This record gives sequence, structure tokens and C-alpha cells, in this order.
Amino acid sequence: MALQLGDVVPDFTQDSTEGPIQFHKWIGSGWCVLFSHPKNFTPVCTTELGAVAKLKKEFDKRNCKIIGLSVDPLKDHVAWSKDIEETQGAKLNFPLLADADRKVSNLYGMIHPNASDTMTVRSVFVIGPDKKLKLSITYPASTGRNFDEILRVIDSLQLTANYKVATPVNWKHGEDCIIVPAVSEVEAKQLFPKGYKTLKPYLRLTPQPNL
Ligand code: BEZ
Repeated sequence: MALQLGDVVPDFTQDSTEGPIQFHKWIGSGWCVLFSHPKNFTPVCTTELGAVAKLKKEFDKRNCKIIGLSVDPLKDHVAWSKDIEETQGAKLNFPLLADADRKVSNLYGMIHPNASDTMTVRSVFVIGPDKKLKLSITYPASTGRNFDEILRVIDSLQLTANYKVATPVNWKHGEDCIIVPAVSEVEAKQLFPKGYKTLKPYLRLTPQPNL
């Protein structure tokens, strides 16, 4: 069965551009984004890896490690990383798994045979410190991902893990949040000292509580 939100993600050991990775141990006590690429030496993937390298500091700020995957051998990853640096102006600064035997791709359901038998789709998995799956998104090979959106979701996941709020449509860090409907009026007054606006009994807006 496909990996579902709340599942503990599969552990594995696989080669990478930064040496063998024992996944759960490598994640440690923070957050992690694991994302797959259909194939080495392809244009969209090249732009994505350059963009993620440039955003690395943003992931670091969120205590979130990033790790890519492609079903190609390690020696090709090394050659490709030179192209990424040359064309995107950013050096790979996170590991890229060399999943030539498809061990990880199969464990995570990254190969969708009706899309392609040989290449992975563009999977994104956000994994929490408890090693549980918090988010998964699947894009086709032809569409490059928006990693600002992944950062936005991590902001929401980290906030909602600690406060009894949810984040509304298109929410960004710093904007008002929704008090979860299960919170009573009495509790809401205690938990949200900055106050809140009640538009409907089930729709209460409060300033972002951790700012
Ligand atoms: C790309 O990264 O450009 C790509 C990879 C596989 C299929 C189509 C595009």
C-alpha cells in the first residue's frame, strides 16, 4: 500500500554523493525533505537541484535536512553535479541518493508504471522528527516543483505541531491563523492571549501565536 500521512517512513541504507546514508539515523532529531528526480542530465531536474541548493539556508533555518534521489549510478551524479554548478550557479550542498537498484524508489512508491517504467515521478516527502510522513506531493516529470511552496508548508507543519491552529488558504509565515474548531471559547481565551476574531463559531482568526 502507498505510504500515507502519519506512517513511519521506511528506513534504508543507500549510497549518496555524501557517502552511504542510513536514513533514519541521518535525519536525526529534525525535519527532512526527501525528493526524487526522474533522471540525471535532464533540464528540469537540473534547474530544480540548483534552486534547492540556493534555498539550503532556508531549510537549515527550519532545522530541516534535504536529500534528493535519482535512479542513476553515483558516478553519473558526480558528473551531473558539475553541470548543475556550471549552469545554475550553485553547487550541490546536500546529498543526492544514487538509487540505481531502485531500493528507495520502490520502498517509497516513487515509480508510477503508468507514467514511466524506468523513471521516478517527482515525489516530495516531508518527514517530521518522529520519522512520520507529514506531507507528500507528486508532480509529473514535465513540471518543475515550487520549493518556496515546500518551505511554506514546512512553516505551517511546524507551527501546527505546536499550537492548536490551522493555516488558511495561501497562508504565509506572519499571517493570521485559524483556531482549530475543537478548541472551546474558554480555552481559546487562555491559549490565544493576542485575541481572535470570530467570523463564524467554526472560523476564528488569531495572529500567528509564535511571533
Ligand atoms: C527533465 O528533468 O527535464 C525531465 C525529466 C524526465 C522527463 C521529462 C523532463
